[in-house]
Parts: sequence; structure tokens; C-alpha cells
Amino acid sequence: MKLILLGAPGAGKGTQAEMLCEKLGIPQVSTGNIIRSEIKSGTELGMKVRALVESGSLVPDALVIELLKNRIAQADCENGFLLDGFPRTVPQADALGEICGVDAVIEIFVPDTAIVSRMSGRRTCPGCGATYHVVHNAPKTEGKCDLCGADLIVRPDDDPEVVKGRLKVYHDQTEPLIAYYRERGLLKTVDGEKPLPEVAVAINEALGIE
Ligand code: AP5
Repeated sequence: MKLILLGAPGAGKGTQAEMLCEKLGIPQVSTGNIIRSEIKSGTELGMKVRALVESGSLVPDALVIELLKNRIAQADCENGFLLDGFPRTVPQADALGEICGVDAVIEIFVPDTAIVSRMSGRRTCPGCGATYHVVHNAPKTEGKCDLCGADLIVRPDDDPEVVKGRLKVYHDQTEPLIAYYRERGLLKTVDGEKPLPEVAVAINEALGIE
């Protein structure tokens, strides 16, 4: 199955992607995680895009499309994948359409007001990319990743002012993809304001899986 999760920053794409990928046995392909790992490793690409990411701007389409192409060409993507954070612009969606088709696009809808308060509680693992929330999805040991034990961090782009800028970028550049995929008969929307397990059930129902 080839799936796309669409939604504003903080809508819960990463959180739901982790659960859904485990269920379906397909890899989560998060362009955000790939880019953060390039930044952490200090690669040429990472150094080039660091300031853009930390200020909440998008990385240029050509760079992200190349990263995505390389990632989904790997063997673990042979039987499908879940795209989390890609595509984010119409040119990215067009490029994806030239590489492969997708089976469904799930939009997780959360209004902006809820996003800003939600992001202040997010904690992220710099080691494996797992995501937590201090109230709604707390790690078993405070401040430590359940999966790899690394110290959890607050992402630099989760600063409330940066979050407001990221929401503007989302509305200007990514939201047009909702109409784009609706016109192609691929879009299903779920209410992302519900508690985590209920959002997961709604996504499963939208995809027709148990
Ligand atoms: P990326 O990492 O993709 O960030 P994003 O899309 O802004 O999404 P987030 O990771 O912030 O949020 P999410 O929807 O995954 O929410 P989460 O599950 O964590 O991209 C980062 C940057 O990289 C971009 O700004 C850009 O610079 C660059 N980039 C990446 N891809 C790119 C592309 N294709 N093109 C160009 N540039 C690109 O949940 C948020 C919090 O809420 C968590 O704490 C979670 O525990 C909690 N939560 C989740 N669901 C619920 C719920 N139902 N109830 C209560 N709390 C919940």
C-alpha cells in the first residue's frame, strides 16, 4: 500500500504514521526526519537547509524530491510506504505522480488554535525520530525515548512564533494539495482533534482496514 498523510504541522502525522506503519508492515518515510538527520550529521545538504528548517520555511522542491526518490528506491519500500510530510507543494505532488501512483491520501484536520498549544508539549527523540507529548502521549520515563533511550528534545522549529510561520507556510503552499487529491478521488479526511486512539481508528476505517 502506498499512502500519504497530509496535515498541518503538529496535526499528528508522525504519531499516526508510527502506529499505521507498524500495523501495515510498511516503512514510514518522513522527509522531515530525513532532513533532520542530514542536519544532525552535518552533511553538505544538511548545512545548506538548516536555517530554512529552523525558521519554519520549506526546503526547495528539487532537493526534497531527490531525497524522496532515493529513499523510496530502497528495498524496504518495494511493497509500499507511508509518506509523512511529502508532498508539501503542487510541484512535489506532480513529481511523485511521475514516480508512482498512491492508493490513498489521508488528511488529518486540526484547527490552527489547537496546533499552537499542542506543539508546546511536543518532545522529539533526536536519535530515532519518535514523537511524544508531555500530556497526551508521555514517554514511560520522563525525558527519555521509550524506543532508544535517548534524551528527548524540543525541536527548534516548535518555538510558538516559528509554529505560527509554519502554519502560514502550510496554508499557502500545502493546503492546495487537499483539492489536488480530492479531484483525483484519493482524499479522505479525519478529525485530528479527537484523542490519539480515536484518530487511529478513524484512519483505519478510512482505509478499510481492521
Ligand atoms: P516535518 O518534520 O514534516 O514537520 P511538520 O509537517 O511540520 O509536522 P510535524 O512533525 O511538526 O507534526 P506532525 O503532524 O508529525 O505531528 P506529531 O505527530 O509530531 O518537517 C519539518 C521541516 O522539514 C519543515 O518545516 C521543512 O522545513 C522541512 N521539510 C520536511 N518535509 C518537507 C517537504 N516535503 N518539502 C519541503 N520541506 C520539507 O504531533 C504533534 C504533537 O501533538 C506531538 O507532541 C503528539 O504527541 C501530539 N499529538 C498527536 N496527535 C494528538 C492527538 N490526537 N491529541 C493530542 N495530542 C496529539
